Amino acid sequence: MTAPILPPAWLGVLGGGQLGRFFAIAARQMGYRVAVLDPDPASPAGAIADRHLAAAYEDEAALNALARTCAAVTVEFENVPAASLARLAGRTRVAPPPECIAIAQDRIREKAAFAAHGLPVGPYAPVEREEDLARPELYPAVLKTARFGYDGKGQARVESREEAIAAWRGFGRVRCVLERRLALDAEVSAIVARGADGETRAFAVAENRHRGGILDVSIAPAQVAPALAERAQALAAQLAAGLGYVGVLAVEYFVVGGALLANEIAPRPHNSGHYTLEACASSQFEQQLRALCGLPLGEPRLLSAAAMVNVLGDAWRSGEPRWEAVLQDPAAKLHLYGKREPRPGRKMGHFTVLAPSAEQARDRALALRRALLGE
Ligand SMILES: Nc1ncnc2c1ncn2[C@@H]1O[C@H](COP(=O)(O)OP(=O)(O)OP(=O)(O)O)[C@@H](O)[C@H]1O
Ligand SMILES: [Mg+2]
Repeated sequence: MTAPILPPAWLGVLGGGQLGRFFAIAARQMGYRVAVLDPDPASPAGAIADRHLAAAYEDEAALNALARTCAAVTVEFENVPAASLARLAGRTRVAPPPECIAIAQDRIREKAAFAAHGLPVGPYAPVEREEDLARPELYPAVLKTARFGYDGKGQARVESREEAIAAWRGFGRVRCVLERRLALDAEVSAIVARGADGETRAFAVAENRHRGGILDVSIAPAQVAPALAERAQALAAQLAAGLGYVGVLAVEYFVVGGALLANEIAPRPHNSGHYTLEACASSQFEQQLRALCGLPLGEPRLLSAAAMVNVLGDAWRSGEPRWEAVLQDPAAKLHLYGKREPRPGRKMGHFTVLAPSAEQARDRALALRRALLGE
């Protein structure tokens, strides 16, 4: 294995959102210097970085600057242009491998990767032409664009082929997947880190509840059978090994009829892993850094049960949220991402509550949210 990258080396991040911000905090804490590439001059990670390159992801001068100064570069969101990653990969260490990021960018490729590496998936069909929507056994269904979807965007719930055709035309006839709409018992996610030497460590599986297609509440450990949680971790590790992955990989699963079905992956830390910031011996962001730098992975052990609640822009509907409600609780940890504009559906921050059990943490976290909103 090549020598580990040590502080005060420069590390680069493509993307300046909250995930990049937490990475930058972890890196700076350990004495690394951080350069963030994100076109938004007010990006959450740019505000924490030693250097913010406020330029397009394709900007040649900015990519050259990263390649020249950074010992390694990672991503905080998957929709980075493949050509930019390829350009960097020729000149500096890039993790995760650009090929794995490309898979995560495309739901059709993602599902093929699940199948290739032994992860079960729900019934679906790739959609490239209108005829591909003629799959009566898949309705009622969810039609999802193959690329650029997040937080439930680029998705339509459709009851019939006719509705699917209308939705597909509405998406501009782009490549899609048509998935059978499943009755979910629960949703869980497994976040694993894999080092360049193949060592893999898994965080406790989180159980996730969504609202309006956006993650709302995560609890850890998930309230599912221990064997199911272990299998979720093992399948994620199997996928990471099969892909030759290096970095943090999140796998989202549906639980249907007591069995796991892989839904999608994220080639980076994940919103459902924010609990690791306070509840684990090492956070998902420290693992991302360690994998990137070729260091041994940190200890992911869960130190306390936890619940995390996202704070969306909607919380500003009747003025500034009552932060004192969360800050007054000694078991609650507030994180705000420094975004100026609280638009509906925009992730502005989150808070995590630690408690003796996941249920207690969730009940407390939900009570704090009501107080935060003045309900
Ligand atoms: N086939 C399905 N059957 C039932 N529910 C589904 C299905 N697909 C998606 N959902 C619901 O919609 C949510 C969002 O779907 P998905 O994770 O595919 O989209 P996304 O927009 O990429 O979300 P994100 O990237 O924020 O996780 C899921 O977590 C689940 O609650
Ligand atoms: Mg998802």
